[in-house]
Amino acid sequence: MSLEISKRGKNMPASPIRKLTPLADDAKRRGVKVYHLNIGQPDIETPLAMRQRLAAVPNVLAYSPSAGTHEFVAALIGYYESLGLEVTADQVIATTGGSEAILFALLACADEGGEVVLPEPFYTNYSSFAAIAGLTLAPVTTRGDDGFHLPARALFEKALSSRTRAVILCNPNNPTGTVYRPDEVQMVAEVCRDRGLFLIVDEVYRELVYDGRKPASALSLRGFDENVVVVDSLSKRYSACGIRLGALVSRNRALIDAALRMAQGRLSPPGLAQIAGAGMTDLGPEYAAGVTREYEGRRNLLYDALCAIPDVFVRKPEGAFYFVARLPVEDGEAFARFLLEEYALDGATVMVAPAEGFYATPGLGRNEVRIAYVLNQQDLRAAVRVLAGGLAAYRAKESERLGGPSRRLVS
Ligand SMILES: Cc1ncc(COP(=O)(O)O)c(C=O)c1O
Repeated sequence: MSLEISKRGKNMPASPIRKLTPLADDAKRRGVKVYHLNIGQPDIETPLAMRQRLAAVPNVLAYSPSAGTHEFVAALIGYYESLGLEVTADQVIATTGGSEAILFALLACADEGGEVVLPEPFYTNYSSFAAIAGLTLAPVTTRGDDGFHLPARALFEKALSSRTRAVILCNPNNPTGTVYRPDEVQMVAEVCRDRGLFLIVDEVYRELVYDGRKPASALSLRGFDENVVVVDSLSKRYSACGIRLGALVSRNRALIDAALRMAQGRLSPPGLAQIAGAGMTDLGPEYAAGVTREYEGRRNLLYDALCAIPDVFVRKPEGAFYFVARLPVEDGEAFARFLLEEYALDGATVMVAPAEGFYATPGLGRNEVRIAYVLNQQDLRAAVRVLAGGLAAYRAKESERLGGPSRRLVS
């Protein structure tokens, strides 16, 4: 007799970022080099100041306090201070990556059956965490032509219903690279305050803002302490994705109390990670500035290269390390599969993430892909060359299939 898996388990969405991984593995087995533009795994070295801390591993790898060690939380508070943000230890819970902070935030803000409003396209794992928490996501559609910025308040509010409990903003945004202007964040905060909603702001890319922008945080908003819940992470800032360390930060006492009880249930955040993470105190502001400069250079390179590919539409992202590119294809996933299964240029191909899974509204994003610029500039250059060649080959093949070269696939 086969046992019944829960509806929650069956309905859990697969990650569009990872679901084509078996095809990439097959390509690698065939000897093809795969440039990974599909996933936000940076190639930058984790700071030595953090790695060195691991030389002093204690004899007993003990549990830590559920909200994090004194050293790590103090280091985090020092980091916030360096940004001019006043945060106290009782406003912070160290988590297993920003991922756990998202889950705790959702579980603490809303009961099963509740709704969370967020701009789409959005970081796909919000869908997974919402599914775990029994919540539905209500999207506010944003468009590439507007740089994926938010609509005016009246339109934004149309997504709210009596079941809405929270709004999620990811700023800077994954997957679009949009950095919301202060007036946009203020507008959403006011909506949340006026309608009695939590505002969960995912700031795991906080420092990665370009063209002279300064890192900003919703923790600096005045008058919204009860609403604002910030998700933070060391993964991207310190190129330390494998460390699995992040934080939930809020001045709302009841929310922190609820999240702390959840944190107690899972005992503690990773101990070794906190030892390494406390090394952030040894990094001056030049560390973040250097990393940001590097990503800005990659963005510029990729933007120019993508603009040079016929019929590809991109807006220059303002932050994070992603583009959402509109391609002259009907189905971004079919194109991504083609790249991995059928195409190689000089023994190499690229993996991109089909963007449809980043939207909640059916049908949107079908002709888009998300591209991450987490490779060094030489690899990025090579990857775009392959992408351009792959796109031309795919269009030729599709045109053939649809009855000759005169048929255009998508205008
Ligand atoms: C927007 C956003 N939030 C949260 C996370 C979670 O990161 P982690 O759990 O590694 O901190 C990611 C990872 O890609 C992300 O892009």
